Amino acid sequence: MKSIEVCFSPELIHLHEVEGKIVVVVDIFRATSTMVAALASGVKEILPFADLEACRAMQAEGFLIGGERNGLTAPGFEMGNSPVAYLSGEYAGRKLAMTTTNGTQAIEKSKGAAQILIGAFPNLQATVSYIQDKGLDVLVHCAGWKGRFNLEDSLYAGALVKSLESTHQADEDGALAMKSLFEREGHQLKSYLSKASHAKRLQNHGIESDIDFCLTLDLYQDVVKVDDRGFLVRI
Ligand code: MLT
Repeated sequence: MKSIEVCFSPELIHLHEVEGKIVVVVDIFRATSTMVAALASGVKEILPFADLEACRAMQAEGFLIGGERNGLTAPGFEMGNSPVAYLSGEYAGRKLAMTTTNGTQAIEKSKGAAQILIGAFPNLQATVSYIQDKGLDVLVHCAGWKGRFNLEDSLYAGALVKSLESTHQADEDGALAMKSLFEREGHQLKSYLSKASHAKRLQNHGIESDIDFCLTLDLYQDVVKVDDRGFLVRI
């Protein structure tokens, strides 16, 4: 059996070992859900940025630029961070440079892992099958909210721990706690997570449609990975 553990925030990643592991970065509302949706809708590849201005500068290189801070589109950016905005296929073939409040920071802080995968509910089963194929230990890296625990990323971690229980041992308390939470609440994701603080933030911004999309299971059979160049690609 391999092992699986959960890191609840990028501020805690220094307490975990990433080397030799598959790190699954998750930001359910909305960064990783948007990354999976954009690539499934034809976007060629995505370059994530922690820094807003470095991302903005990619427009001059012909990239589509997507930026979000505090749930809102960053000033002067073509795209915000809405997964629904990509579903029409309008941006097929484009390269996307993307920066968000938490999700792209978590990708940055996962460097050094054997592999970095992008986790979201719309590609949960595809990620599970890929991990079981690879046979490596797993660390679920929750993006959280500005360094704090959040419910939606942690519940996704519980879904992954539960789905991998035949191949990966959950022998640390974070993984055990989230597995129990998913066993209790996993059948009612939408009603349970509508209480989450960031869901409320998005509702206050009138962005309900994204919430529904982000909580839809297994829309895509895509595994999304960070390649050797640092780009997010479908594999
Ligand atoms: C983030 O990175 O914090 C989120 O994706 C924020 C959002 O999209 O609302």
